[in-house]
Amino acid sequence: MCGIAGYIGDGVAKDYLINALKRLEYRGYDSAGIAVLEKGKEVRCVKKVGKIKELDESLKDEEWKENVGIAHTRWATHGIPSEKNAHPHFDCAGNIYLVHNGIIENYKILKSMLEKEGHIFRSNTDTEVLAHLIEKYFTDNLEEAVLNALKHVEGAYALVIIAKEDPDKIVVAKKSSPMVLGFAEGETFIASDSSALVGYTDKVIYMDDGEMGVITKDDYRILSIEDSSEIEKKPDTIEMDLSDIQKNGFDYFLLKEIFECPEVIRNSTRGRMILEEGLAKLGGLEVLDQNRLRNIERIIIIACGSASYAGMVGEYMLEEYAGIPVEVELGSEFRYRKPILDENTAVLVVSQSGETADSLASLLEAKRKGALTLGIVNVVGSTIARSTDAGVYNHAGPEIAVASTKAFISQMVVFALVTVYLGRMRDMSVVTGKRILAEISKLPDLVDEVLKENDNIRDLAKKYAGYENFLYLGRKDNCPIAYEGALKIKEISYIHAEGYAGGEMKHGPIAMIDENFPCVFIAPKDSVYDKMRSNMEEVKARNGKIIAITTKGNEELSDIVSDTIHIPKTLEMLTPILACIPLYLFAAYVGIEKGLDVDKPRNLAKSVTVE
Ligand code: G6P
Repeated sequence: MCGIAGYIGDGVAKDYLINALKRLEYRGYDSAGIAVLEKGKEVRCVKKVGKIKELDESLKDEEWKENVGIAHTRWATHGIPSEKNAHPHFDCAGNIYLVHNGIIENYKILKSMLEKEGHIFRSNTDTEVLAHLIEKYFTDNLEEAVLNALKHVEGAYALVIIAKEDPDKIVVAKKSSPMVLGFAEGETFIASDSSALVGYTDKVIYMDDGEMGVITKDDYRILSIEDSSEIEKKPDTIEMDLSDIQKNGFDYFLLKEIFECPEVIRNSTRGRMILEEGLAKLGGLEVLDQNRLRNIERIIIIACGSASYAGMVGEYMLEEYAGIPVEVELGSEFRYRKPILDENTAVLVVSQSGETADSLASLLEAKRKGALTLGIVNVVGSTIARSTDAGVYNHAGPEIAVASTKAFISQMVVFALVTVYLGRMRDMSVVTGKRILAEISKLPDLVDEVLKENDNIRDLAKKYAGYENFLYLGRKDNCPIAYEGALKIKEISYIHAEGYAGGEMKHGPIAMIDENFPCVFIAPKDSVYDKMRSNMEEVKARNGKIIAITTKGNEELSDIVSDTIHIPKTLEMLTPILACIPLYLFAAYVGIEKGLDVDKPRNLAKSVTVE
């Protein structure tokens, strides 16, 4: 949800900035802009509607030698995507230029105050007020002006600011929206997340809420926005490889990330299973008082989008095998409810990015009410990861395609490990623990087997790409996978789809079924297989077309279904992990068949840091 970048150093600012924007493009891609600064000259600023490549192209004809600059890729909240609404925004005098990720909640009041004082606004954005507000307080020192301005600002922001009249520094400030600083010899890099820094430096500082940074070519200071006091912060070293953020021969990140799933499962489980004792070893949970974990009487899982469906899969696992009552809540709902929490309730937030605004707000609300807070988070050092009492990282690596796939798979795998961890503290026997872990350890090979269906699924996608509606059905552990499958085909292929619990079909969706409304059944040979089979009969009786995902060796559906995709046998609770893969490939290939950019679907953003 908007990517921001900044550079100050000996190198060419524009080169890093464009590269950073390309890597941050998953955060928003309706417009982009850059502003660079050289002492004694006017700031040069270019903005373009569309993707980063449009901006990059438009910069080709000029020379860009400046050593200080800021840049932005936008996901519109206030004001349509247009050049005037694109960032950087600037003040009346053309002195202050800034980029912003977040939302300024009191911008209307500030704007009318500033307009009365004579400031002329050019855009419909909330961000522009910040440029004028800083202008109001600017004499000759940028950080002083920013500190004064931010005292009046309500909302969320990650800000990167430069001033023509104070040209040897960049000022940054953070509240709620993410920001990381990267340090190399004679250079400082700024970005929304560390994927932009890979290959430039591995020395980073994650900015915390309420902090401002004043960065010069060879130095930095971190200050408290509230009282201007100095905060001591030293860079951490991060591990990330360039290959993590490249397509590695695939046409799309989406396909690369689906094909990475076997490796992702290996990474999510590495060193975390003591097979012979049937125990999960989760260092992130071991930091807690184990009695507190043992005494948990209820878990509320909070998440948004796909992560909430992973939470539902986790709900089935935890209730059945760890014996803990679980509820799954959407972040956007939980934050406005009157949740009933006590010291034996754990709130577990699931988030790929670790920055989703609704999930974060819910987490903070739960903390305020004294619940134990846990996280299943992919992005290391993200706000949610840092705000929970304890948690488990997914280790899925950077997920670049906007629609979540490999992170979702890793979330389910981590839930399986958490189930064993918590279950073995309670009634789960060593035998059951061993059985689950043995099956988890086979998953990478089983997912590899599913991926061998690639060509079959691509053919199916060609066959079905022309349909306008789909119904996805699943039961029990695979009910959330029906939701996830339907969500994916909506997101990636812009085809209307609904995900339903199999048993609910007769309560409405069946009215829609005819030969133009194909149904995707997730029907492995499990405890509810016969029920799913009956639902198939009902669809067949109404001339509906059926694509079935079922267990290898199950040939008895051939009379009912139009097409079948087989997945290998595994433990019932783990079938969602295998069943999801074909649905991902199907949605990807339908989108590709329709000529869409499946990495960056329209209107979406990967990291939703606004409400
Ligand atoms: C966005 C993404 C989804 C993701 C959801 C939650 O909508 O497009 O893929 O599932 O946010 O994101 P999180 O980072 O919290 O998992």
